Parts: sequence; C-alpha cells; structure tokens
Amino acid sequence: MEAAAEAGAMLREACARPKNIAYKGEVDLVTESDRRSEELIVRRLRSRFPDHAIVAEEGGGTEAASARYCWHVDPLDGTTNFAHSYPCFAVSIGLAEAGEPVAGVVLNPISGELFSAARGEGARLNGREIRVSNIEKLATSLVATGFPTRQRASSANIHYYWQFTLQSHGVRRDGSAALDLCSVACGRFEGFWEFGLNSWDTAAGMLIVREAGGMVTDLLGQPYSPGGEHVLATNGRVHGEMQAVAGDIMKRAATASLKF
Ligand code: 2AM
Ligand code: CA
Repeated sequence: MEAAAEAGAMLREACARPKNIAYKGEVDLVTESDRRSEELIVRRLRSRFPDHAIVAEEGGGTEAASARYCWHVDPLDGTTNFAHSYPCFAVSIGLAEAGEPVAGVVLNPISGELFSAARGEGARLNGREIRVSNIEKLATSLVATGFPTRQRASSANIHYYWQFTLQSHGVRRDGSAALDLCSVACGRFEGFWEFGLNSWDTAAGMLIVREAGGMVTDLLGQPYSPGGEHVLATNGRVHGEMQAVAGDIMKRAATASLKF
C-alpha cells in the first residue's frame, strides 16, 4: 500500500502535465511515468523483501527462478488512458507464493480508490469490505473487456465483444484490466474477460475478485494463473453463462481458424 501510494502520488501529478511519450511499437506507447513509477515501487520492494523475485512490466524487476515469493508489478495499468489524461488508470501490485496470489493492491490515483486483498482475509475498498454483485443473469449484467494495444486489427476478441454486447446490458472497455477486475470485485461489473494479459495485469486483481466472493478461471472454466492465455472473472452467478457464450465462439473460431 505504501509503494502504491508513493507511485500513485507521482502519477497523479504527472497526469496533469504534458506527457513525454515513447513508442514500444507502432501504437504501444510507454511514458516516462511508467518507468518512474516502476522505479519507485521496485526500489521499495527490493529493500523490504531482498529475497523475493519481482516481475515488472517495464523490465526493472529482478527475477529469481528459485524464489518462493514473487511480486507482479504493473506501475501504470492503462497507459493509453494516462497518455490521454482519461482518469482511468492504476498501480497494480500483486504478491504470489509458489505461483498463487496471496496479497494484492490496486490504486486509482485520480479517484483515490485503493482496492486490497490478502488470501483468506477478504477484499477491501479504502478499508471497507467489498462483495461481488448478486445479479444472476447475463441479460441484466454489465460486463467489461479490453483490447491489446498491439495487433488491434486481428484481435478475435471483437467476436466476443459483439456477442456479449447483444446478450448483456452492455460491455465497457475502460482500458485498465486491473481496475476492471476491481469493478467486478465491488459489484459494478458482473463479469470481465480478456485475452493476452500479463501476470502484472491480473495478479492483484484476481485475488481481489476471489476474496470478494467472485470466481476467476480461464474462458473454458479451467484454472487461471497470472499470465494465462485468457481470463474470465465474474460474480460467480453469471460465470457459467459467460463461459457458455465464450465456448460457443471459441468452437466456431477454431473451425474458422480465428486467432486471439
Ligand atoms: P497497459 O495499459 O499496462 O499496457 C487494456 O484493456 C488492458 O490490456 C490494459 O490493462 C493494458 O495494460 C493491457 N494491454 C495493453 N496492450 C497489451 C498487449 N499488447 N498485450 C497484453 N496486454 C495489453
Ligand atoms: Ca498493464
């Protein structure tokens, strides 16, 4: 929480100023703030937990294959939003023990919302316990997804987006997977799915969903671990229905050789 607060304060201030944007690829942007935020977080984690591994989006971590504990750090989730001063981005810090998330925080530095969870201890929003929603049907659900910055033209997720839009109250794409997961956890969204996310996007948020009473698997209902090919996080009640919709599309995608 201390690391997220420090990095979040820096990001809030930087968001108000003109941005210095570099491109990792044609449209995959990274800002000076991504790197500065990562430095602040990694420095703090390293000094407090020198034996732990750290996997961080901008490459500033220290991976140790033998370490039992590994931190997954997204110093700025929602970089595109940040670059456009759209106030929907977050710092996400998750801790995994032998591959299983055990602690996580996600902070939106603009709204001041801090989501947190520890395994077996529930999930919180600014200290108050949160629960997933109790909506039972996809037809009355608000759900969310996201699209990668790269390979936009060939993203097969557009087929899922289409179907879920027709079958739900609506599909939001807010641009920060970590915050989308937290919105499931506190009952704003009934479900969230996405392809190709990395461990730093989901390690904290997936624990927050589970500790809030929700369910996290992959789109086929198989176990999901941070960095898996696709993820489905729901309030639990609409999980089967969302899985069935996705399963149908996946079957058709396989025959039409659509890729994620
Ligand atoms: P980022 O802002 O840290 O890059 C968009 O819905 C979500 O997908 C965001 O959490 C974003 O994280 C992530 N994302 C963006 N580009 C991606 C890519 N090429 N591969 C995987 N995830 C990506
Ligand atoms: Ca991210």
